[in-house]
Amino acid sequence: MTRLAAEPGRAFVVGVGRRRPADWPSAPRTPFIEADLLDETALAALAETLSGMGVVDLILIATGLLHEDGVTPEKTMRAIGAETLCRLFEVNAILPSLVAKHLAPLLPRDEASVLAALSARVGSIGDNRLGGWHAYRASKAALNMIFRCQALELRRERPRAVCVVLHPGTVATALSAPFAKSSRAMISADDAAERLLKVLARLEPADSGEFFAYDGERIPW
Ligand SMILES: NC(=O)c1ccc[n+]([C@@H]2O[C@H](COP(=O)([O-])OP(=O)(O)OC[C@H]3O[C@@H](n4cnc5c(N)ncnc54)[C@H](OP(=O)(O)O)[C@@H]3O)[C@@H](O)[C@H]2O)c1
Repeated sequence: MTRLAAEPGRAFVVGVGRRRPADWPSAPRTPFIEADLLDETALAALAETLSGMGVVDLILIATGLLHEDGVTPEKTMRAIGAETLCRLFEVNAILPSLVAKHLAPLLPRDEASVLAALSARVGSIGDNRLGGWHAYRASKAALNMIFRCQALELRRERPRAVCVVLHPGTVATALSAPFAKSSRAMISADDAAERLLKVLARLEPADSGEFFAYDGERIPW
């Protein structure tokens, strides 16, 4: 949010989530709207509210789940369970898909715009050489497919829009904390945001429907 708000020409950065983060600043340019992002009625109301706030030219979906109480990344097929699969598909694939469904129609028809969701390199099927983390990998692969579909639709309706999924790198957050010891290249959330915004700034409509890493590298599906 801080990086986005500092971009020249950006009038508003509207945060949306199930609860306002403790460190979200109280400023007129950075309002925060609390909404249940899995509830389509709430998402329709959110779209209505946002449409009254001006042109929406960037939608960045940064939600995601790897672990929580009762959800641990699987090391082997023996650990696969329906509850974990359902929960990770719900948060990692269904939630961003519903957000895109309700908010993408707000993007301008004839101006440049971006719809992006944070995915993860481990969601690449072609790049999977280690296995493990079955539900997380599969839910991100599902997210990637739905965003590819969304990008193809946007290409027809909003030819200047860019719709992509992004791998932020290994970032020091609550999501990665339990795995921090084994991680070689951990970066701060602020550095990750800076890199991802640079990648987005360089993308053209011809790049829409692709999967990019924080350094601009195109990741195979
Ligand atoms: N950190 C990494 O190393 C890394 C690596 C690759 C990909 N990613 C991806 O990057 C994205 C951001 O991850 P992060 O590292 O910033 O993780 P994080 O600190 O755990 O943040 C996850 C975000 O998702 C939101 N969220 C989770 N479940 C939700 C739900 N049911 N409804 C609404 N919001 C929900 C959380 O909201 P609350 O604040 O309300 O909990 C939080 O804002 C995720 O998609 C993740 O898969 C991260």
